[in-house]
Amino acid sequence: MHDERENIGSNPSVHPAFGDVLRAGLSRRQVLAGGLGTLAVWLTDGPGLLVRAEAGESALMGFSALSISEEDAVRVPEGYRSDVLYAWGDPVSNGPAWDPNALDTAEEQALQAGMHHDGMHYFPLPYGSNSSTHGLLAVNHEYVDNGLLFRDGLEGWSAEKVRKAQAAHGVSVVEVRIEGGRWRVVRPSQYGRRVTAYTPMRISGPAAGHPRMQTAADPTGALVLGTLNNCAHGYTPWGTYLTCEENFNGYFLNKGTIPADQARYGIASSTLYRWNEFDARFDAGKSPNEPNRFGWVAEIDPYDPSRTPVKRTALGRMKHEGATVTVASDKRIVVYMGDDERFEYIYKFVSRDAYDPDDRAANSNLLDFGTLYVAKFDSDGTGQWLPLVYGQNGLTPEAGFGSQGEVLVKTRQAADRVGATRMDRPEWIAVSPLNRDVYVTLTNNSQRGDGGRPGVDAANPRNANVYGHILRWREAGSDPGSTSFSWNLFVLAGDPRQGDSAKKGNIKGDAFGSPDGLWFDARGVLWIQTDVSTASLYRTDYANLGNNQMLAADPSTGEVRRFLTGPRFCEVTGVDVTPDGRTMFVNIQHPGEPGSADNNDPRNPGANSVWPDGPGIGRPRSATVVITREDGGAIGS
Ligand code: FEO
Ligand code: CA
Ligand code: CA
Repeated sequence: MHDERENIGSNPSVHPAFGDVLRAGLSRRQVLAGGLGTLAVWLTDGPGLLVRAEAGESALMGFSALSISEEDAVRVPEGYRSDVLYAWGDPVSNGPAWDPNALDTAEEQALQAGMHHDGMHYFPLPYGSNSSTHGLLAVNHEYVDNGLLFRDGLEGWSAEKVRKAQAAHGVSVVEVRIEGGRWRVVRPSQYGRRVTAYTPMRISGPAAGHPRMQTAADPTGALVLGTLNNCAHGYTPWGTYLTCEENFNGYFLNKGTIPADQARYGIASSTLYRWNEFDARFDAGKSPNEPNRFGWVAEIDPYDPSRTPVKRTALGRMKHEGATVTVASDKRIVVYMGDDERFEYIYKFVSRDAYDPDDRAANSNLLDFGTLYVAKFDSDGTGQWLPLVYGQNGLTPEAGFGSQGEVLVKTRQAADRVGATRMDRPEWIAVSPLNRDVYVTLTNNSQRGDGGRPGVDAANPRNANVYGHILRWREAGSDPGSTSFSWNLFVLAGDPRQGDSAKKGNIKGDAFGSPDGLWFDARGVLWIQTDVSTASLYRTDYANLGNNQMLAADPSTGEVRRFLTGPRFCEVTGVDVTPDGRTMFVNIQHPGEPGSADNNDPRNPGANSVWPDGPGIGRPRSATVVITREDGGAIGS
């Protein structure tokens, strides 16, 4: 237990989450109430921005909770409405309209929304303004379902089909504005842009040009085609978008002997996507360094479509979930990142140089210089950030690390070497705008404690963790630049109706499992989005929890309240709110995804869901949804 005075920074920014909405200094008392496995309650004695409340009485949350749902629809609370804004196939700017029969060509797909919307951010227009009626949405397109992308699925697999699948990956930037009281995509737009799996991108930072980054097609090791499996995201205070490459390994195959460095990242002898059949760089046997050019965070300038995206290798190579940016007390940039796989790690990057709020261009290479750390959570509720720096902590040539570039290409192996804590699938990370506490979703880990694999530890306290948990930490001095922290468990997800006490969890409020998306709004509400896999939905441990959903939590009381339920077999992921708090954007990913197969059946694409277009079209689509209040009030309040 300790007392401390916290000063909330006022970093000028294009987005209020960086701080000028709530500048109040809060004096708080942190109390760990109860031991491991119980809900830790952090009490406040501050001036009332955060108040204690019983379930259903949160001062932060003013909406009525939804019940669970198995309907094929987006449901929002009474007094709210939801509208589809931007679905797979919709033109980005002046491109062709979507063909409901999925006959669009690769060239057409490259001018339309990609598939499988994920992380997303709203950038006000013009740059530097706080506009809540006109802006840019940057949207990730994580992966594709070939049974929906093509009228005949995988039949007659061809170079054209590979090209279309690649064009459906990457990122969209679309211009959006309110007209006649409703949000719409502006077409044509000088900003509208697609980044795909073949868009040329620069590689920068310590691994750029390293021999392990060089290929026959790119002997410089500094120019790569495209970005893949863009899951969660981040954004910087200088108005750029960070897109994060997650399960890149799945696009490669190696039919020969798989080297240990490829195996550590999951390169296998087969690939679901079959790009290697017409694009030889995805054969990791023939082009062994090509996989090293994926697994990074790429920076995109949404305000300038002519700027080449840049992969920032200083942030490490992993199955990146997101890249959550905050600013240290001395104005260095801090980026929190999860590596989403069972028993992988949580990282943070701290820049060498300070961020300059007055000179956008001066920040353009900030993410190339700095220190990457990995987290170690100790059982006494403290923790440390261990630097992954060439020559330190055993990261030496004798151990297989010949330079900082090699440390970064082999980030996972470096983290293994320094003894970091193996977590239950780290997904999104969110920083409270009120006090800089940092929250992470650990979505699940059914293999914890399973035959020879690591068992429970203080930070991952359940074996066979099917529902996941949310952990939080406070950096020393509440300064994101610190190298030590204290931590506790915010909530263990679960279903109170389960007989097994470990599966009940300790949620104060509405039940959920497999938390993935995690995001703070400027008022300090913690929004939680779930990604129960389609193989688990509606069955056994998840029989009572219905469709994937989005909930709001009050960090000061622990109350969790269900705000949105998605359509059938979807994942709810990606959220942002306009600076005035009155419009929320949410992504619905993969409605209708079968739990029993890799792709939908192209002969019956609407078997599991026909959202959002209905039975007449019958082909489900991922989409960005706009949520507003009928009385025009702030979302969630
Ligand atoms: Fe793409 Fe870890 O979720
Ligand atoms: Ca995710
Ligand atoms: Ca997930």
